[in-house]
Amino acid sequence: MSNISNSPSTRILRAKQSLRGTVRVPGDKSISHRALLFGAIAEGITTIEGLLPAEDPISTAKCLKAMGVKISKIATNQIVQVHGAGLNGLKEPEIILDCGNSGTTMRLMLGLLAGREGKHFVLTGDDSLRGRPMQRVIQPLRMMGAHIEGRENGNLAPLSITGRKLHGSVIGTPIASAQVKSALMLAALYADGATSVIEPAQSRDHSERMLKAFGASIEVGGEMGRHIHIRPCSQLKGQSVVVPGDISSAAFWLIAGSLIPGSNITIENVGLNPTRTGILEVMKKMEAHIEIINLREIAGEPVGDLKVINTPLKAFSINEEIIPRLIDEIPILAVAACFCEGKSKITGASELRVKETDRLAVITKQLSSMGAEIEEHHDGLTINGGQKLKGATINSETDHRIAMSLAIASLMAKGTSKLLGSEAAAISYPNFWEDLEKLQN
Ligand code: S3P
Repeated sequence: MSNISNSPSTRILRAKQSLRGTVRVPGDKSISHRALLFGAIAEGITTIEGLLPAEDPISTAKCLKAMGVKISKIATNQIVQVHGAGLNGLKEPEIILDCGNSGTTMRLMLGLLAGREGKHFVLTGDDSLRGRPMQRVIQPLRMMGAHIEGRENGNLAPLSITGRKLHGSVIGTPIASAQVKSALMLAALYADGATSVIEPAQSRDHSERMLKAFGASIEVGGEMGRHIHIRPCSQLKGQSVVVPGDISSAAFWLIAGSLIPGSNITIENVGLNPTRTGILEVMKKMEAHIEIINLREIAGEPVGDLKVINTPLKAFSINEEIIPRLIDEIPILAVAACFCEGKSKITGASELRVKETDRLAVITKQLSSMGAEIEEHHDGLTINGGQKLKGATINSETDHRIAMSLAIASLMAKGTSKLLGSEAAAISYPNFWEDLEKLQN
């Protein structure tokens, strides 16, 4: 019998049945956004295989369509075609561009649109996105000459962009954020001179890899790839992009497969870009049993299949050094920590406070209600492992990664849990509940 009720938003979850079998997680969210955006400003057609057919990339596609870009239907197993409008071909939209729940959409759009002289754009999003800080992108864009206004001194959406001529600049960003870096890289394509972006630590480098493949002039240097040098561009060429599975979605099965007795899961076609594999580094230290099979390179990104089997996990400590490589995996790592031997500590993760929710606060509140010994700090968490969790009424608070993390926690808890807001998973993993059911059968 299935452990999952059929209600779309509230799910009843029960402990613990081994998870066995093979899954293919959906396409990488970060790569999907970029393939749509870069395809939209390239010449000719870009084909995208494996595009994530979920709400966030659909928000990016809707914004691009409102500016005249033709994009074919986005659906599971569908190759998507983007008819590039060229670097200067985006039309001024007659509507407000709605970025939904997607921070990547809003921040990359700011960079994409700031340099469109004589055109005006308004960006908004859902309740969560309208509360997320945009100053981190707007301030450096202003240094390049951009004119962007918004609530709270221009920090919060709705945001209004009046396109201006941009100037090449040297910009040091205070936070390692691929969204900030990618927005500046997009703006730099339209500037009157070269731009350098210097990050405090390297964030995910999908934009660098993909923009180069589209023909942009980008040099990556400095210690650990922290310096990016971009020259203005006259043309990008449409490409065939193959999107690997999202390691941030695979992470739920890596932890569930390690924790739940008798589990044995193979996750096929997972992107293993080294700027994203912090979860594998930390799980190795936790003595998880994960094997990488069939390592290969597809469209400029390393890809492999991951096989995980149940094994006891050790407690872990992670700090700011590794955080950029596993930023989205911290909620599920917090769940894992509840069942590890010993005390786990996460520091240097204050960025989690400005994600889709304040993830440090929300995961602490929700796991506490299941009986976890978890303490919240300004920049992290301390979790005492080896506690027994009990089923409870828990809430995703509209955050996709919290919804899926709590689902895995429920499978390890004693008794029944009622997960409210489970539909949030569709933001990045539309088939999560089907895949869970499949692995339980
Ligand atoms: C993303 C970058 C990260 C990540 C987000 C996707 C991207 O955000 O958390 O889910 O696609 O560039 P930050 O750039 O804010 O760290």
